[in-house]
Amino acid sequence: MKIIGGPASQALASRVARELNLTPTVCDFTKFPDGELYTRILDEDVDEVTIIQSTTTDTDLMALLQLIDACEDSPVINVVIPYMGYARQDKKFKHGEPISARAVARTINADRVFTVNIHEASVLDYFNADAFDLNASQQIAYYIRSLGLSNPLIVSPDKGAIDLAERTAREIGVDYDYLEKVRHSGDSVTIKTKNVDVKDRDIVILDDMIATGGTMAESIKLLKSQGAKDVYLACVHPVLARNAVMRLFNAGVKDIIATDTIEKSQSCITVAPLIASTIKGLQ
Ligand code: R5P
Repeated sequence: MKIIGGPASQALASRVARELNLTPTVCDFTKFPDGELYTRILDEDVDEVTIIQSTTTDTDLMALLQLIDACEDSPVINVVIPYMGYARQDKKFKHGEPISARAVARTINADRVFTVNIHEASVLDYFNADAFDLNASQQIAYYIRSLGLSNPLIVSPDKGAIDLAERTAREIGVDYDYLEKVRHSGDSVTIKTKNVDVKDRDIVILDDMIATGGTMAESIKLLKSQGAKDVYLACVHPVLARNAVMRLFNAGVKDIIATDTIEKSQSCITVAPLIASTIKGLQ
């Protein structure tokens, strides 16, 4: 088995290879003078291959397509897309729109595809390959446990991430809840935790991703106003677009915790053991 890391997932692929006692295959990633990508795998052995590459940007997707194409002689091609861009456009929201997640999935020519906490599981059906979603809740739970928080509560910012919050909280052995919007009248809305009082508790708000930080900034302010102690944010995918990080610190976050599905300075949790154990299971 060869492990190939694309340019967006160099550290993660190296960690996966190390977990498997393998040396990752080195590739060249440069650009032609006109800006087009040049990719070359610097290894002539032909073997089953696992390519690991998040597709946060369009250029990342192109690099992944090039790597898959360059592996045409491999008997089996596994592709791990730890963070799949465009997964949120998983249906037509308005007439005339594409299903971008489907458009991306259709380009992936592989035997098996693995994602990590993909935004909607239904996206897996768009791949022309056996496709599986891995869940990073155990890795996130280990890290949160190591923080030694006081009477912590895991909170999902909406119903969408409640499964992730529940699984993570169960792993740690703590409570979980979610934020619910209650409309009292036409112009009066309150947002609060559904079941649990947050007063004097350390809170970890957990979502699959933080993009602009808008959802989280509102949630932090709300929980603070209800008497929460320290408020941490955790996510699988730290997209953290534009000024999200500063926005969140201005809103009063204690710290931002994320995995290395996207390699950022906030990526203190690695999903390498999750991916490595999955690859081991294939052999
Ligand atoms: C939405 O469905 C996702 O789970 C996240 O809540 C959302 O993408 C976060 O976006 P933002 O950080 O821009 O509020």
